Amino acid sequence: MTYTVTAYCDGCKYTDCVEVCPVEAFHEGPTMLYINPETCIDCDVCVATCPVEAIYPEDQVPEKWADYTRINAEECEKYPTISVQVDPLPDAKTLEELQAAEGG
Ligand code: SF4
Ligand code: F3S
Repeated sequence: MTYTVTAYCDGCKYTDCVEVCPVEAFHEGPTMLYINPETCIDCDVCVATCPVEAIYPEDQVPEKWADYTRINAEECEKYPTISVQVDPLPDAKTLEELQAAEGG
């Protein structure tokens, strides 16, 4: 299995998640992070750290974001790993704002 970063990370990049990952599975793309399925050990600790609830176990990714598991696997290869928290993107939204923008 692996864990998957989904849509709400895109445009936010809070990066709380990278600090707790024991194996440096996160890679930093320009607008979001990606988990490397080859590295992730399914420890689950990152899920609770994300302020916008963007991370899911692969088998619990909501249907509307099903493509993200493949996207994580492909995009992680293009970018360096990240293990130290950095400032979020300037337009980062709250979970409430993201849900409202999505219509629910
Ligand atoms: Fe890292 Fe664990 Fe999250 Fe996988 S589940 S990305 S190993 S913190
Ligand atoms: Fe993205 Fe959440 Fe981590 S917004 S960078 S998955 S803390």
